[in-house]
Order: sequence, then structure tokens, then C-alpha cells
Amino acid sequence: MDHTQALSPVQDSPAPGHRAWPAGGFTSAPYWAYSDPAVYAREMEAIFRGKSWHYLGLEAEVPEPGSYKTTYIGQDNVLLTRAEDGSLNAMLNRCAHRGNMVCREAFGKAQKLHCVYHSWNYNLKGDLTFVAFRNGLKGEGGLPKDFDLAEHGLRKLRVASFCGVVFATFRDDTPPLEDWLGAVGEGIRRVCNRPLKVLGYDTQRIHANWKAYHENPRDSYHANILHTFYGTFGLSRQSQESGMVLDDAGRHVYFYTKAGTEKQSADYKETADALRSHNQGMTLEDPGILKWRDEFGDGVSVQILSTYPSFVLHQIANSLCTRQLLPKGPNQCDLVWTYFGFADDDAETERLRLAQMNLAGSAGMVSV
Ligand code: FES
Repeated sequence: MDHTQALSPVQDSPAPGHRAWPAGGFTSAPYWAYSDPAVYAREMEAIFRGKSWHYLGLEAEVPEPGSYKTTYIGQDNVLLTRAEDGSLNAMLNRCAHRGNMVCREAFGKAQKLHCVYHSWNYNLKGDLTFVAFRNGLKGEGGLPKDFDLAEHGLRKLRVASFCGVVFATFRDDTPPLEDWLGAVGEGIRRVCNRPLKVLGYDTQRIHANWKAYHENPRDSYHANILHTFYGTFGLSRQSQESGMVLDDAGRHVYFYTKAGTEKQSADYKETADALRSHNQGMTLEDPGILKWRDEFGDGVSVQILSTYPSFVLHQIANSLCTRQLLPKGPNQCDLVWTYFGFADDDAETERLRLAQMNLAGSAGMVSV
């Protein structure tokens, strides 16, 4: 695996002598890599503004011409819009004039993007269309005669959608999204196989470096040990049929398990006897939340997919959700959970998904 692209900015960061990377190479990450403000600043530039695709949201969140959403890539506030021609557009949410935030709502609908500070206007693709008093007043003031609106739009990002999941990148030389996702794209295609419908949101602040969270959904070792709910109620156990898929560069991953496929073995029993999840005798007053339908027809009860550096897609039974990781300084990050179903779900299926929203999320029964 080539980790050079992902890790060299960190490894090369200017640091005092005692901050040299340990001899163990990439398998021995020092704790300062998770707390040093200089490392964090390099990550924002080299990773979040670098050659990577970053999740912005679902197409279903900007369904009509004029719909917009504000979000973040790293710590940059970003706008996702649907223009009159139906195209998706992404741009920095920062006025070209004095840097004011242009759209202040999380979601909205507009015919144009209007900066309140001095009333510069942009179209939904980020092109500057109007400057107040551009020619001054009564022959005095105004902008230079050669001021060209076309040169002063919002900073545009490359945007691409894969199965209704929208990503953007700052760089022109980032490979096309589908190539970049590689084999892991199949895990997105499997879940997002028809028009989506947003069901709700949950946001939590995590008091840890963003990388500590990012490592978590790709650490399949912990899943069925820490999350006792999985093992106790059989949604996911090490003894079940399972698998893991990585892209060629080892940046992205998804793993899956199939409920009801337990195969007992002596080495599994040895560990299972020590697991909390197998020893609690816990039951649910209402086991309805455990009823799940094999809606994708492959028996997979849990699929956790993670793309570098900050996107997660989960299927836990019939709970479907994206998770967007937003760094907020070296020692904290936000995690935005967007639960969704399909536009053609019947009422009963939607009720099931809403009930199973309680499995994950900041207060979910699995997460807790
Ligand atoms: S800062 Fe936006 S119009 Fe002046």
C-alpha cells in the first residue's frame, strides 16, 4: 500500500527535534501527531485543501434549482448549490469582496447568492453578477473601469456526485471521483441504489483529534468487542460471515457482516467467553428495533464504509446514514450524521428506519 500521499505532509512537518517520527515507520504513530497545532495546520492545507475528495452532502439535500446547503471541508465553509440548469456547484462561502460569509443558513432556496455586507450578488454557480455602485455616484468613486466581474466570483471547487452522494475537491489534479473511490465505490453503489430521501440529522462534538475518529470506523477489531449491542443481539459478531474491501491505495475501506451466519470454533469460543457482550444476559423490552429486512438481498446486516479522509457511510440493519467528520482544531471535531431512506419507501419501512436511527448516532444503543 502506498501511504506516502496521506502521511508525508505530517511526517515532513517542521517540528522540534524530539518530534521526529519514530523508527517504526507508519505502524507507530506518535501521540503528538494527534495534538500538535503545527501538524494540524499542515493537515488542513495538505489533506483538506489537497488532492482528496470530500463529502459535502446528498443530492437529496439540494433537490431543486435554487436549493443550497452550507457545510465545511476541513475548516473552510463551503456552499453546495443546485443551479437553474440542474447542475451541482460547490464554492467557498466567502465573498470575493471582503470575505464575508455569503449564505448564513444551513439550508435555503435562492435565485441568487447575496452578500449582505455591501450587496454584491452571485449566481448559483458562484459568478459575480452585481456590484453595488460599481460606477460610483454622480461621476465619482466606483470601481476601476477595467474591473471584470468574471474575475471576481466565489472560489469554485470541483464537484462530483456518485450515486447521489456529493463530493468536492479544491484541486484540479485530484483523479476523477469514481477512480479515486476504486473498489470501495461498490459499497456506496450497493446502498445508494435509487433516489434517496433525508430522514434526519444528529450532530455531536467529539473531544478528540479528527484522526482518532477517522481511524475508528476502519478498525473492525473493536466493533464487536466494544459495541456490546452488536454481539448481544447478533447484528454483528466475529463468528459471522464477514469481509473487508479496500481500494488499491489502501485509503478507503468497507467491511461487512452477515447476521445469522454464525460458525462456532474453539478459538472464537475462547475469546467469546471473555466478552462482556456474551455474558450480560441482556434483553430488550421491545425487540422490534432488531427486526430488519434484507433489503439489498445479500444477507449483509452491517456495512461500515469509510473514505479518506472524512466520510463514513453506514448500513446497520435498515438504518442508513452518512457521517461527515469536521475538524475543529487539534483537539476536537464534529461528526454530522445524516440519516436517509429511499424516496419510494413505504410508510412501514420508513417507520423501521426511524426506529433504527436509535441504533447509532451520539446516543445510539450500539454507540453507547
Ligand atoms: S464583503 Fe461581501 S459585498 Fe462586501
